[in-house]
Amino acid sequence: MKHFLQFSDFTIDEFDYLFKRTALIKHKFKSYERHQPLVDRTLAMIFEKASTRTRVSFEAGMYQLGGSVVHLTTGDSQLGRSEPIEDSARVISRMVDLVMIRTYGQDKINNFAAHSRVPVINGLTNEFHPCQILADLFTFIEHRGDSNNPLDCLKGKVVAWVGDGNNMANTWLQAADLLGFTVHISTPRGYEVDHSIAGLKSSNSFTVFDNPLQACKGADLVTTDVWTSMGFEAENETRKIAFNDWCVDQEMMALANPKALFMHCLPAHRGEEVQAEVIDGPQSVVWDEAENRLHVQKALMEYLLLGAL
Ligand code: CP
Ligand code: NVA
Repeated sequence: MKHFLQFSDFTIDEFDYLFKRTALIKHKFKSYERHQPLVDRTLAMIFEKASTRTRVSFEAGMYQLGGSVVHLTTGDSQLGRSEPIEDSARVISRMVDLVMIRTYGQDKINNFAAHSRVPVINGLTNEFHPCQILADLFTFIEHRGDSNNPLDCLKGKVVAWVGDGNNMANTWLQAADLLGFTVHISTPRGYEVDHSIAGLKSSNSFTVFDNPLQACKGADLVTTDVWTSMGFEAENETRKIAFNDWCVDQEMMALANPKALFMHCLPAHRGEEVQAEVIDGPQSVVWDEAENRLHVQKALMEYLLLGAL
């Protein structure tokens, strides 16, 4: 049994398979062709933090695959009344086939998975957001690559990360380490990425820049995220001051490769981490990126339950 708790849980071959399978599943969806390999399977979705994209993509995705979903939150289940996570995992995993969890510490999802009889998917933790990076990479491949050899277009590329050293940044580092591209990271002082969290095999997959403009130089993809992630709301005002120069603007995009794409996992705050002209501009692929959450996660759920087909 496999879980997808962080990006590094899968091998290069598994990602190659998943991206090819995603292309097929997306093509069927666009052609209104039924694809229902998960009839009678149930996904439990546990949300301890808010969500729009993750909720809709997993829920719609599971129904489209022929299965059904159960939606739980901390507020409307015993999870919020301190039932031990181990007990919740034992019980929930006896009743469903697959579990997706959005929570705080990675230790919590690791603990759930250790006591689960069924595969567990990370729908975002403080440390990682692997489903989002899956969608981001698939989006890059669609725009700049070849669906028969999906991983080729990633090799040697530069991804500029401008902003917080957060769950998205950690996951980008894991993806670069495995798939052979480089991340140029620029964060304000005090908000650096802690690369020990990502547990990288090599230190060649990222370079740190004090100046966000320098990080964007020659980049093939420029990406950012909110200044304040969920769970860190108390730091909002301090962060607004610290992150003032870490707004992806047209000057940064002009320094990137002329064919560079812009991505943002969303939700976005125009005028904070990104200028409206960039996120709503010609290089932005944020709507494809959001849609692709649906397609990559359908491939992921199918793979975790049925293996490579
Ligand atoms: N990008 C993302 O995970 O969005 P939601 O918080 O809306 O799920
Ligand atoms: N880094 C953000 C991503 C939201 C999808 C957060 O954790 O809130």
